[in-house]
Amino acid sequence: MIYLDNGATSFPKPPEVTEAIVTAVTDYCANPGRAGHAMAARTAEGVFRARDSIAELFSIEDPARIVFTKNCTESLNLALKGLLRPGDHVITTSMEHNSVIRPLHQLSCKGVSYTMVGCDMQGRLHVDEMKKAIRPETRMIVMTAASNVTGTKMPLEEAGRVALRHGLIFLVDGAQGAGHMEIDVKKQHIDVLAVPGHKGLLGPQGTGALYVRKGLKLRPLMEGGTGTRSREREQPMEFPEGYEAGTVNSPGIIALGEGARVVQRMGISAIEEYERHLTERLGKALAGVDGVSIYGPEDAGEKTAVVAINIDGMDCEEVADILDRRYGIAVRAGFHCSGCAHDTIGTGDIGCVRICPGIYTTENEIDAAVAAIKEISSQAMEQSRCQTGAPEDNVGS
Ligand code: ALA
Repeated sequence: MIYLDNGATSFPKPPEVTEAIVTAVTDYCANPGRAGHAMAARTAEGVFRARDSIAELFSIEDPARIVFTKNCTESLNLALKGLLRPGDHVITTSMEHNSVIRPLHQLSCKGVSYTMVGCDMQGRLHVDEMKKAIRPETRMIVMTAASNVTGTKMPLEEAGRVALRHGLIFLVDGAQGAGHMEIDVKKQHIDVLAVPGHKGLLGPQGTGALYVRKGLKLRPLMEGGTGTRSREREQPMEFPEGYEAGTVNSPGIIALGEGARVVQRMGISAIEEYERHLTERLGKALAGVDGVSIYGPEDAGEKTAVVAINIDGMDCEEVADILDRRYGIAVRAGFHCSGCAHDTIGTGDIGCVRICPGIYTTENEIDAAVAAIKEISSQAMEQSRCQTGAPEDNVGS
């Protein structure tokens, strides 16, 4: 199997991550923060180390302001529903995933309004358009670090400066950016950062995190046991445990900590450089292939490791199915839970095939994917010529 679906979840995981999760289950999986015995302390220590490693990766000063969640969607829901109040106005972009759009839509029934700033057909955001959308009641800017459909990187630092200047909360959806590109909460003026554990941070599924800067008052999504203030009926609004009600996914979080340390050791710039190289190789090889349309920025430097394509006359799901069954290549087709992004890039009616290399993808795998796509496309063209009776070229006409 050639795995090119790293936008959905990263695969394979580093051996350190696998070993950490196995050890945490087999050797010491007590309940962290719920008892004082040695095994509970060891588990709690593993969870703390994971918080530290994530903090280091994003230049977060206080690791206690990081809450573990089950995924980036939960992190975004906690941030949006826990920070916004009726009457607030939010600015977002037309390249967002449903994990931002749907909570905003839900909140719009509760008195929160939002403006979706349109991006261009490559998914690029022009921050001036964002500035024009600011109103007196605007309280937050929420945007992705990079599109999950085209990979287009967003101007985080520029948008962060706008948020800072206007006193707005800057919430970043790091689903496709974390572990793939620089995300620095200080430099980019990020107040709130939502990340998945299982994508670029190389951890297992069922893990995610939310950073909320000091000074912001967050309402919890859930109430329950926190291992603290047990005689009080009111949920303690203390970081991090007040927002992690119930037993946390310790083995997953400990393994996520290992993933974050692997990313730190490799270095974000080295990862970015390698993924850019693969994306460029893929994009350049597919550019100009008869019948293949490519979406998003042409320059691989402007995006994360995503190449979004369609083959003329073929349904994107059919292309993905052929890649899987005939060539053993895993990609994701359809609308990628991002209908607005597809409307923006002009694929709102047809969706597309998304190809996402990762840090363990090889050049040979990229070349095999290119060869497969060329073959599928040329067969589709041939079939269409047979159906329409059109000659292959104009020879003899
Ligand atoms: N949000 C993930 C994706 O883009 C699952 O595929």
